[in-house]
Amino acid sequence: MSNSEIPETLVTDRLVLRRPRLDDATYVFQHWANDPDVATYMSWPRHESMATTEQVVDAWVEEWKGVSGGAFLITDRATGSVIGSTGFDLINPKLATTGYVLTKNEWGKGYATESLKAIVSLAHDLGVQRLFAYCHYEHEHSARVMEKCDFEFEGRLKNYMEFPNLSPGEVTDVLLYAWTPAAT
Ligand SMILES: CC(C)(COP(=O)(O)OP(=O)(O)OC[C@H]1O[C@@H](n2cnc3c(N)ncnc32)[C@H](O)[C@@H]1OP(=O)(O)O)[C@@H](O)C(=O)NCCC(=O)NCCS
Repeated sequence: MSNSEIPETLVTDRLVLRRPRLDDATYVFQHWANDPDVATYMSWPRHESMATTEQVVDAWVEEWKGVSGGAFLITDRATGSVIGSTGFDLINPKLATTGYVLTKNEWGKGYATESLKAIVSLAHDLGVQRLFAYCHYEHEHSARVMEKCDFEFEGRLKNYMEFPNLSPGEVTDVLLYAWTPAAT
């Protein structure tokens, strides 16, 4: 499998997930990467400068030139506004990982669930046999998103990951969830 087999846009009822562009950086910074509330449970440090976000978006753009998937920006299908990001990252052709983040104004509207269902559908169509994700052990909303998308809870991994915005310098337990074709 290569990125040429991965569609650059995924369309759902209310969303379009699309390949990132360099000029998305300002929006990403202003709407979530710099927001402490959004960054709380993320594995990356909150962006304190636009320069950091520009590097990240640049890396997303480069990633799409490779063979192992990449980030998608989540946009409002009606307006085109960017409301968050997700990803489809291949570890090998049968194994992929994902994650999701939405700007605060759009929480609680079912968008993370709708977006993750689109990523699951992509995984299914490409013959991926396992799509997995982690969340902080107390992040109930994120766990609920995965459960609603037919991910199975596989266990609590001890001292697995640092959450730099929540407990810098410490490693924290995470919940491991995975979707497999049999689950849907
Ligand atoms: C976690 C996050 C992605 C959830 O996105 P969302 O679009 O609000 O989630 P959904 O609307 O699809 O809802 C999923 C479930 O969580 C619940 N939920 C989401 N936000 C909630 C809130 N603020 N209060 C109460 N419940 C909430 C929903 O009720 C739903 O469960 P239900 O169907 O049983 O009611 C979003 O809050 C976010 O981007 N947070 C910051 C980034 C982050 O933490 N990402 C995940 C890292 S692992």
